[in-house]
Amino acid sequence: MMRKTTKNSDVAAALRACRPAFFATVAFSLVINLLMFTGPLYMIEVYDRVLPSRHTGTLLALSGLALAAFALYGALELIRSRILIRSGAIFDRALARPLVERVLSRSAASTEAQGAQSLRDLDQLRDFLAGSAPVVFCDAPWTPLFVGLAWLMHPGLGLAALAGIGGLLALTLATEWVTRPALRAASASATAAAQIGATAMRNRDVVAALGMASRFADRWSGKHEEVIALQTCASDRAALIVSISRTYRLILQSGMLALGAWLAIHQEITVGAMFAANLLIGRALQPVEQVVQHWKGFIMAREAFARLAAVLAAGEGPVQRMELPAPVGHVSVEQLAVCAPLAAKPGLSGVSFRLAAGEMMTVVGASGSGKSTLIKALVNVWSPAAGAIRLDGATLEQYAPERLGPAIGYLPQEVELLAGTIGENIARFGDMDAEKVVSAARMAGVHDLILRLPNGYDTEIGPGGSVLSGGQRQRIGLARALYGKPALIVLDEPNANLDLTGEAALAEALEAARAGGATIIVSTHKPALVSMADKLLVMTDGTQQMFGPRAEVLERIAPRTLRVA
Ligand SMILES: Nc1ncnc2c1ncn2[C@@H]1O[C@H](COP(=O)(O)OP(=O)(O)O)[C@@H](O)[C@H]1O
Ligand SMILES: [Mg+2]
Repeated sequence: MMRKTTKNSDVAAALRACRPAFFATVAFSLVINLLMFTGPLYMIEVYDRVLPSRHTGTLLALSGLALAAFALYGALELIRSRILIRSGAIFDRALARPLVERVLSRSAASTEAQGAQSLRDLDQLRDFLAGSAPVVFCDAPWTPLFVGLAWLMHPGLGLAALAGIGGLLALTLATEWVTRPALRAASASATAAAQIGATAMRNRDVVAALGMASRFADRWSGKHEEVIALQTCASDRAALIVSISRTYRLILQSGMLALGAWLAIHQEITVGAMFAANLLIGRALQPVEQVVQHWKGFIMAREAFARLAAVLAAGEGPVQRMELPAPVGHVSVEQLAVCAPLAAKPGLSGVSFRLAAGEMMTVVGASGSGKSTLIKALVNVWSPAAGAIRLDGATLEQYAPERLGPAIGYLPQEVELLAGTIGENIARFGDMDAEKVVSAARMAGVHDLILRLPNGYDTEIGPGGSVLSGGQRQRIGLARALYGKPALIVLDEPNANLDLTGEAALAEALEAARAGGATIIVSTHKPALVSMADKLLVMTDGTQQMFGPRAEVLERIAPRTLRVA
């Protein structure tokens, strides 16, 4: 069944998961806000009933009732905040995994920094949902209740409360209006700073060795200063409005008392009602005032939510693809153009070739001629900007990732192994099949090399673990590429760091893979892999100069221009 998911289905699912918590919060908020009438009612009763009658029994009974109501209020408030804290966790749990998967599958976040930003956004949203802000936003809608009651006591009081709230809302809008541009710009600068920091961290060795630390620190702190300046500016403006609104509220409260007193003097309301109205209006204004205070956090959460929704939506394609048969390795590339993420123009265009299953093609060309770009497109890391790549007739997007991944063996130009054991790395972190791992390692000629390491296949790689040389990494990367006998093996300059033994092992591995029926595409600078090839593809300046059987291409191109063979 082919089915397009509706836009943002993950976000929708996360919101749906939070729905019970949301309804519970609304229900609790209703009761909590009704219980808030306790104070004003108690006041009216005490002033207008107890004091004139001087009846202590009534006072005691009323106080008991009020006490019980306040205790209930406290308990409900506690439960409500716990529900909200949990809804933050539910929301996070529903989104975190799909988000990370989306970011890692590279379909959504095109750069590393964007991916990191998405994870920060998720943290920020959870903090917002679990913090004190949502309570405020839950209480605000009940404000009309308090205004209505004040109105019942005297329309003048209701009108005054409405006017007061109108003023506070105007201040809220002003906060949004003055802080939003600065906060937007701050978040853009924060992303830029994170990007600078991430590249410098990743290349700490060269940064230290070449004495670039202070210059990189300057660069980073330039962006960081921008973030701080913009955030300070936004916070300054928000603080100004918060203090205006606090002052405004104090004046409003006393003004209300004055109005109540005036009405009481003219015997429009009782003295009890005067105090109670003051309390009611205070209650009506409080959530509105708190909304003003939390507005900045709300805006930031909203921006984070919008970014997350965009990332999640960008990664959504047809989720359920019809199961295609496992590919055998016919490759056909038609008028392919590839544009690197965020690049202005295609780094590669006009590439067309066909390979039958079991053929080996070597891609040659100078540095920067587009070899790696072509290879990233062939393994579905970058999508074609034009044209198509077909594997057994189907475009790469038509395969479900879990079908395509095992069918492809990819060795990137710069091999990085992931944190974990060597065995796990070779098995691509899937179910560990020791036999398949050893067979891949044997094929890549690294079995003995691995056994000589302290813990053999269980040697941990990465920080705190074993550090491998470039050549060792490349050969273990080759074993990872060969794992599970993929139909299409794509290697980007696999012999760049290899010594003669390594090169011989590589040639042997490729022969074995070809004998096993795999289609092989390798890029290289060196002659060794050219002489093995069935087909040659010559790249110049991002275009295809020539493609054909090896002998034919070598004949037509002077070996000097090829700079190989
Ligand atoms: N991530 C990238 N973003 C933008 N441009 C890129 C990126 N990677 C490569 N390019 C550009 O694509 C062209 C081909 O590069 P590449 O495919 O890496 O060449 P080769 O592997 O043959 O040395 C170069 O001009 C390079 O500047
Ligand atoms: Mg390259």
